[in-house]
Amino acid sequence: MVFRVFLLLLFAPVFTQSLDAIFNDDVLGLIVFKAGLHDPKDKLSTWNEDAEYPCDWVGIKCDPRSKRVTEVALDGFSLSGHIGRGLLRLQFLQVLSLSKNNFSGPINTSLTHIGTLQVLDLSENNFTGAIPDEMFQQCGSLRVVSFAKNSLMGRIPDSLSYCSTLVAVNFSSNQLSGKLPPGMWFSRGLQSLDLSENLLEAEIPEGIQNLYDVRVVNLRRNRFTGQIPRDIGGNLLLRSLDLSDNLFSGSLPESMQRLGLCSSLDVHGNLLTGEIPDWIGELRNLKNLDLSRNELSGSIPPSIGNIQSLKKLNLSTNLLTGSLPDSISNCKNLSVLDVSQNLLTGGFPFKLDTRGVSLSGNGVDESAEYTSLPATTLYNNLQVMDISSNSLSGEIPANLGVLGSVESLNMSRNLFFGSIPASIGVLKYTQFLDLSNNRLNGSIPPEIGVAISLKDLKLDKNFLSGNIPTQIGACSNLTSLILSQNNLTGPVPPAMANLTNLEHVDLSLNNLSGSLPKELANLSRLVYFNISHNHLEGELPVGGFFNTIPLASVSGNPSLCGSIVNDSCPSVHPKPIVLNPNSSNPAGAASSSDHQHKRIILSISSLIAIGAAAFIAIGVMTITLLNIHVRSSMAHSAPALTLSGGEDFSCSPTADPNYGKLVMFSGDANFFTGAHALLNKDSELGRGGFGVVYRTVLRDGRSVAIKKLTASGLMKSQDDFEREVKTLGKIWHPNLVKLEGYYWTSSLQLLIYEFVPSGSLYKHLHDADERNSLTWRQRFNIILGMAKGLSYLHQMGVVHYNLKSTNVLLDGSGEAKVGDFGLARLLPMLDRCILSSKIQSALGYMAPEFACRTVKITEKCDVYGFGILVLEIITGRRPVEYMEDDVVVLCDMVRGALEENKVEKCIDGSLGGSFPPEEAIPVIKLGLICASQVPSNRPEMSEVVNILELIQCPSEGQEEIQ
Ligand SMILES: *[C@@H]1O[C@H](CO)[C@@H](O)[C@H](O)[C@H]1NC(C)=O
Ligand SMILES: *[C@@H]1O[C@H](CO)[C@@H](O)[C@H](O)[C@H]1NC(C)=O
Ligand SMILES: *[C@@H]1O[C@H](CO)[C@@H](O)[C@H](O)[C@H]1NC(C)=O
Ligand SMILES: *[C@@H]1O[C@H](CO)[C@@H](O)[C@H](O)[C@H]1NC(C)=O
Repeated sequence: MVFRVFLLLLFAPVFTQSLDAIFNDDVLGLIVFKAGLHDPKDKLSTWNEDAEYPCDWVGIKCDPRSKRVTEVALDGFSLSGHIGRGLLRLQFLQVLSLSKNNFSGPINTSLTHIGTLQVLDLSENNFTGAIPDEMFQQCGSLRVVSFAKNSLMGRIPDSLSYCSTLVAVNFSSNQLSGKLPPGMWFSRGLQSLDLSENLLEAEIPEGIQNLYDVRVVNLRRNRFTGQIPRDIGGNLLLRSLDLSDNLFSGSLPESMQRLGLCSSLDVHGNLLTGEIPDWIGELRNLKNLDLSRNELSGSIPPSIGNIQSLKKLNLSTNLLTGSLPDSISNCKNLSVLDVSQNLLTGGFPFKLDTRGVSLSGNGVDESAEYTSLPATTLYNNLQVMDISSNSLSGEIPANLGVLGSVESLNMSRNLFFGSIPASIGVLKYTQFLDLSNNRLNGSIPPEIGVAISLKDLKLDKNFLSGNIPTQIGACSNLTSLILSQNNLTGPVPPAMANLTNLEHVDLSLNNLSGSLPKELANLSRLVYFNISHNHLEGELPVGGFFNTIPLASVSGNPSLCGSIVNDSCPSVHPKPIVLNPNSSNPAGAASSSDHQHKRIILSISSLIAIGAAAFIAIGVMTITLLNIHVRSSMAHSAPALTLSGGEDFSCSPTADPNYGKLVMFSGDANFFTGAHALLNKDSELGRGGFGVVYRTVLRDGRSVAIKKLTASGLMKSQDDFEREVKTLGKIWHPNLVKLEGYYWTSSLQLLIYEFVPSGSLYKHLHDADERNSLTWRQRFNIILGMAKGLSYLHQMGVVHYNLKSTNVLLDGSGEAKVGDFGLARLLPMLDRCILSSKIQSALGYMAPEFACRTVKITEKCDVYGFGILVLEIITGRRPVEYMEDDVVVLCDMVRGALEENKVEKCIDGSLGGSFPPEEAIPVIKLGLICASQVPSNRPEMSEVVNILELIQCPSEGQEEIQ
């Protein structure tokens, strides 16, 4: 058979008649077809030209006797290219299904010349051009044809009417235009016709009643005009008619009353006029009736109550008048009732037991009668109630308990007054509660804390007073809390910091006072936090969203301070501690700073010992911060540091090489007083390309990690250094190791980091005594944590450059914290050579572009390192391992195993097989994609986070949360 391939290579592009005659077999046809395709996922790898029969190839079915191909189904294979003539060789083909691929070009007319073809599905591709008119002229046995969701243009071919075998036609979601062909309705066998979402126009030709077998007609979202076909009632078997979002005018045709089998009638979004006819009640099988967004007038006929099967009734946005007929309560199955945006008056149908009701935007003005909702049992099913934008008044009924199962309750834009009843606490299932734009007064009841399902709470534009109840902290699912434009007083409760899902918060235009709880900075999902126009004071929270909060969201609070409002806080923030070894007198560098602050003069003789240790090969280095005056004898080689509440970074440095400066970005000056830190081999935590890290304990018992930079010769000038470090100090994220401060002299630089107790990921994965400790779930969370940390880092415009497992730390609860980020910024320039030798020294993590001078190094180099880390975490193996006479490169090994379908074998044996493969395999693949050779093939870290969240098995995830 090899010569086939040979011939193929020679002739495939110009496949001639004579060859057709010689090689008239299915294998050849399929191979020719495959040769014209792009198969990026190698889905057709089983299609082997040496086979005698193609019957066991993927996507192929044969007649068991003749072994001739009857079905080609390649849906969702990511194939692209053109459909060549190869398929025409399949003389017994019945089903050709190529949906959800990327095929392009015009549709090959000759496909319908395969006389046996019954089903042709080319939907969800990128076919262009018109549907050729010859297409259906000889349609043989064709029964089902779908070209849905392509980019086809032009008109519906006239030939369609010749094809009497057709049962189902779907041309939806293209850009077909023009009129329907006049012979359209001659295809009498049609049972289903879907032409929705095109640009078809003009009037519908007469004769639709000829489709006597039709069950489904969908012409939704076109530009049809004129009347709804008057003879539509002749389609007695019609089950579903969708004419919505067109330009149909006139009234509902009377013949429609014969559509007794119809279960869904949707004509919303047209220009229909007239009244809703009384005969609508004849359509006894309707489950869904949507007449919304028309210009229907008159009142709602009581006969609607005869449609017992009705589940959804939407009459919204018309010009309906009168009141809702009482008979509607006969529709026992009604679950959604929407009559909003009409001119209805009168009372509510509170006898309804629907799942959803919307009466929003009417003139419904009944008040007194409904201050108390009638009997309990009636509302068991109500899940959605929208009575917004009416002129309802009266108090909110106290027995809200009857709405016990409501999920969405919208009473906004009415004239309700009085206070919010304490019974609000019974709304345990309510996710959406909108009482805004009323005249409510009194305070927000603490019982709100019992409505624990709330996601969206809107109480704005009322006259509410009193405090925001602390109990709100119990509504842990809240994402949106809108309380603006009331008269609320008191502080913003610290409990709000517990609402970790919060995204939108608006407390503006109230009388709130006190300072903002600084824990609010922990709300990592915030996108909007408006506290403007209150009487808040003190320091804005530091970190997270609050570093970039827009001025408009905080303005109108004269006593607020912080860098955002351009008003540094007098004694609160920023609170860097400045150590100036030379200024043992107040006239020193710190003199410009705040005077009321207690000045603490320190000798740190031994801190300087670190400096000296530059000369001592293996030195025991000690920092002692003593609360005593400088000893003058130390003044030269061991200058003392002055510790004071400093003013920003304004202390100007001098040229004195012994000048040292300690800046803490937050925290208390006193932390360092009397601290005694021994930086020696025993307190060493690790060392890397950039320096050695020691652990030390502050006076308050808190540990910090101090990194002594060894690349000092390469450092930037002090100004640049400080600017860069200051940038890094602003980066706050739960998955990043926080930089708390620094110490600078021209010969010695220290970075002070938060101490992360459980050590490095490397230790957990590879240290003999730690091994086997990580479960699958912990590993997954570490990967997700790293991804979140890096995503945030990139969002802040910082590239890490130095990812490796020794730089990922785990805190007490196993949460990953990425450390050592951005240090390359401290170098005078981003020199590729230095980066790769000094920083990216860790073999195996280094992105290939470091070796290629012409490729720009971007944050994608971190994505590469991340990918390698993912593989390392999952396999428990180092990125590069040296065997006796072999070198194993982890990502090559995993990639190889994946290709051989043996990737599960790579997963760390110490998991003992207890991992969910539906998570593990996608995570491995994600790791490999991140470790792509070409930077642009690697995803963004934010995408990686999204992907991981999708991969995470929902049930597993929850177990962890609880
Ligand atoms: C579809 O094809 C057109 C041109 O043939 C191309 O511009 C477009 O990008 C394609 N769309 C997709 C989704 O592949
Ligand atoms: C909070 O939201 C989660 C996720 O949507 C859901 O599973 C959980 O049931 C909600 N909690 C409450 C109390 O409604
Ligand atoms: C707001 O509350 C204060 C004190 O509780 C009260 O004096 C003031 O009149 C209230 N303002 C409005 C508009 O209700
Ligand atoms: C926040 O939540 C924590 C833990 O769930 C709880 O201990 C603490 O009391 C809460 N804080 C407030 C102010 O409600």
